[in-house]
Amino acid sequence: MAVGIDRMNFYSPQYALDLVALAQARGDEPDKYTIGIGQSVQAVVPNYEDVVTMGVNAAEGLLTAADRAAIDMVIFATESGIDNSKSGAVYAQRLLGLSANCRTIEMKQACYAGTYGLMQAKDYVTLHPDKKVLVIAADIARYGLATAGEVTQGAGAVAMIVAADPALAVIADDSVYRSEDVADFWRPIDSDTAIVDGHLSTDVYKRFFAEIWQSYKGQSGHALNDFAGFAFHLPYTKMGKKALDQILPEASADQQVRLQEQLVAAQAYSRLVGNLYTGSVYLSLLSLLKEGRQTAGDRLGIFSFGSGAEAELYSLTLVPGYEQALADIDIRTDLAQRRLVTVAEYETYFQSQLFDSSQNQRTQAPLDQPGCYFLGWQAGQRLYQNNQ
Ligand code: HMG
Repeated sequence: MAVGIDRMNFYSPQYALDLVALAQARGDEPDKYTIGIGQSVQAVVPNYEDVVTMGVNAAEGLLTAADRAAIDMVIFATESGIDNSKSGAVYAQRLLGLSANCRTIEMKQACYAGTYGLMQAKDYVTLHPDKKVLVIAADIARYGLATAGEVTQGAGAVAMIVAADPALAVIADDSVYRSEDVADFWRPIDSDTAIVDGHLSTDVYKRFFAEIWQSYKGQSGHALNDFAGFAFHLPYTKMGKKALDQILPEASADQQVRLQEQLVAAQAYSRLVGNLYTGSVYLSLLSLLKEGRQTAGDRLGIFSFGSGAEAELYSLTLVPGYEQALADIDIRTDLAQRRLVTVAEYETYFQSQLFDSSQNQRTQAPLDQPGCYFLGWQAGQRLYQNNQ
């Protein structure tokens, strides 16, 4: 029986920063950011948004009444979670009005955890074809003001419904994965910013992709010419090019051109949002599906990477009519409608996050607007309101 992604949706905050302005403020060449790293705009997170609100906002745009009745598991993947004990999934289950007869769990392994969640969902639905699973991958990539990683920040959430006979894409049983304890990126439990050896992390990503690709070919029997495109985890868009360039000579000349064009399509939305850690590879998939050239029956490669490090490569096959499953989504327009903030405003937003749970503080949540909001702290608890 075919199991896969039935529908998916993306959410990112309404504020964004032009990276040419950031380069100028930091005394860097704008071309370094826009060409060398491949990022043009970055999501900016106000203090009333976090992984729970972004995840709920992504899922709200997706759930029908039938979905709400059939979902009996919520898997919430994040590495910027809001509690060391309670999962983002249990908040999301309440805020989305899902049944109490539901399993709720949070997953963590850097940027990789969304893929683990998706694979768990696939296995569960394969055993229970009448059920659906909601997978949310939500993160805030936060390195610190005026750090080397600053240009690769970003934020957002992807929500996916996994079901039997999916409307969008069937997940193949061809995963190849790899884990290795590497000190390239981590975030101590008392730190709100990541610690990263950026160049090492880039090298680990490239090496994992090259090694996994060799194993994948041997195990699956597929060659590069069998793929209509790849979605990559994109901490910055140049990273996808660095990975793909390693294996491109294996393809025919025409296929090399096609895969490069498809890579540009797979990078388009990440270039305008930045890194969203767990959700990044699935934003790349959405970008490829909306901006690329593929047809039903095509095979797409998905390369998921998380520092620390763990990676997985697998493929999806697009089902007939898959475009309809994405017909209501217009991410390009949504991103164009964000308000661009100045560097000074961005720095204020960055510093106004309420990390101190000991203070009863309120955020500036615009409660007259639709959306899910973090209201603030009360007696050490995070308060939320979903105004959908
Ligand atoms: P950096 O040292 O600021 O930049 O770090 P650089 O000097 O390496 O330059 C970057 C590129 O810009 C280079 O190109 C330069 O040549 C080029 P490359 O050699 O890489 O092809 N350049 C220019 N191009 C045009 N015009 C110019 C110009 N000047 C320079 N004038 C780095 C960059 C990405 C390392 C940094 O921003 C960083 O540390 N970011 C965070 C870490 C990261 O994103 N790592 C990626 C792989 S790890 C991963 O994906 C996991 C992660 O998502 C976390 C998780 O799993 O949870 C991060």
